[in-house]
Amino acid sequence: MRIISIANQKGGVAKTTTTINLGASLAAMGRKVLLIDLDPQAHTTLGLSIEPDSLTKTILNVLEPHRSKNKLKLEEVIIEVKLGEEDNLFLAPSNIDFASAEYKLIDQIGREDYLSAAVRECKIPFDYVLIDCPPSLGILTVNALKASSEVIVPMQPHYFALRGIEEFMETAEIVRKNLNHPLKINILITIADLRSNLAQEVIEEIKRYFGDQLFKTVIRKNIALVEASSQGVPALYYNPNCHGAIDYYKLAEEVISFEKEEISTRI
Ligand SMILES: Nc1ncnc2c1ncn2[C@@H]1O[C@H](COP(=O)(O)OP(=O)(O)OP(=O)(O)O)[C@@H](O)[C@H]1O
Ligand SMILES: [Mg+2]
Repeated sequence: MRIISIANQKGGVAKTTTTINLGASLAAMGRKVLLIDLDPQAHTTLGLSIEPDSLTKTILNVLEPHRSKNKLKLEEVIIEVKLGEEDNLFLAPSNIDFASAEYKLIDQIGREDYLSAAVRECKIPFDYVLIDCPPSLGILTVNALKASSEVIVPMQPHYFALRGIEEFMETAEIVRKNLNHPLKINILITIADLRSNLAQEVIEEIKRYFGDQLFKTVIRKNIALVEASSQGVPALYYNPNCHGAIDYYKLAEEVISFEKEEISTRI
């Protein structure tokens, strides 16, 4: 099982879009995928046509303090996402009530490890768990990083993009030092307007800075991704030929290509 956080404290860089569309592509390639919506904005939940306010069980129940009567196991809150023929995509949903999670966790011992424990104890054999983080470096993002062996950091090729990323890398480094497993960090360029010279320049700068920590796949700016999310479906099921669907499919192939690497480093 590969557990991957999609995180960046900067808002609007396509964390949620990446979670949904990478998840749908991996599922279409036959992988069993769980998406965890770790954001009270519940955009991953909404983006899969699930009405957050109608839910009685959410990821909040999983992160409840241990003695709470509302506490549930991860498998008890998981919903199957119906897309096409495959039944490979699952969601641990969120809603606005989840905004109280940070507050509830604040005085709990081991509060940074709640999600990690829940994922490890889950009995369903997922190939991938993708965790959509909120745009902050608070206790929820730290929970996600501690549960993960990999992080995808989406980044828009804006002029000041590299400045914001330092703060994130410092947090990841602190978490990494506390872990007894490696945390692999990969940068993903998103919402890239490849016709703009400035974007091209910034992409070159990001490449120089991150080297092989950068995904080869670049997610182009594509309005179909916005339309698909407003329809509550991944782009692959909205228009499989749009740039957004093609780019996220390529990203899934790249992510899958590391499966072999993982195996070879383990031998
Ligand atoms: N490649 C793209 N091309 C065009 N628009 C995009 C692309 N990717 C994402 N968007 C749009 O940009 C906006 C922000 O994306 P998204 O919600 O995925 O970001 P986020 O990082 O999850 O935001 P937040 O920090 O609020 O959680 C959304 O309206 C989304 O539809
Ligand atoms: Mg989001």
